[in-house]
Amino acid sequence: MPKSVRDILSMKNSKKITVITAYDYTIAQLCDKAGVDILLVGDSAGMVMLGYENTIPVTMEQMCLFTEAVSRGRQSALVVSDMPFMSYQSSKSQAIENAGRLIKAGAEAVKLEGGSEIKETVRAIVEIGIPVMGHIGFQPQTTTLQEGYKVQAKTKDAALKLIEAAKTLEEAGAFSIALEMVTKEVSKLISSSIGIPTIGIGSGPDCDGQVLVVHDVLGLYEKIKPKFAKRYLELSLNIVKALESYKNDVISGRFPGTEHSFSMDKSELERLKKEIV
Ligand code: KIV
Repeated sequence: MPKSVRDILSMKNSKKITVITAYDYTIAQLCDKAGVDILLVGDSAGMVMLGYENTIPVTMEQMCLFTEAVSRGRQSALVVSDMPFMSYQSSKSQAIENAGRLIKAGAEAVKLEGGSEIKETVRAIVEIGIPVMGHIGFQPQTTTLQEGYKVQAKTKDAALKLIEAAKTLEEAGAFSIALEMVTKEVSKLISSSIGIPTIGIGSGPDCDGQVLVVHDVLGLYEKIKPKFAKRYLELSLNIVKALESYKNDVISGRFPGTEHSFSMDKSELERLKKEIV
């Protein structure tokens, strides 16, 4: 049985929540095997899986495909899928319809970027029975259009606005809130002033849980290396090394060896040779 939203809620103040992004069946299986609590099908897929500059071009069709693959790969983690840019901003009915598509594709909950301005959208999605994770602080879907990557809540006024946004999202029914690139002092204040879990990314140690992009954890994505991401492996270096060995083996004739080949029966081979000469 996969974890439920209720299981995640009950972890607040008792156990740290571990979240990692996943976009495909194989990686989802491995993350699930490692015991991560939530697999986030993030729209960061647009960058790390599809090579876009940012998350803006990501479509609902792409998110549904990634969600289907991840949900087939997991056994016990909760699957949360990002609603991509412009899949929930036009109207509440558009948001409900698209949230429903992600649930039908295999997610148990959806994540939306935005604070107080999307509270009625969050409420509408929750009211029809779809759990929502909020996402405040740095919001890649909109911030990249304006000011680029920037640490959030560095001033008193910005911090107050963010604390207010977190409270509003909780009141609208969100079951958790991702805090991206928020100063650690403000993340701590937000985490202690709301009753739902905060999931931090680049937001310090006092959030109720942590999320990272799996490509950063494994050292697979070279284009951007965020300061806040800990790289536990340098997989891209090892992958290139392995592929160079493969290439050299093919060129030199070391691959394939007899252990990688199939044989036909000797007598059959003799009969075949007689017939073709
Ligand atoms: O798309 C994403 O990967 C995210 C982050 C919170 C990791 O939204």
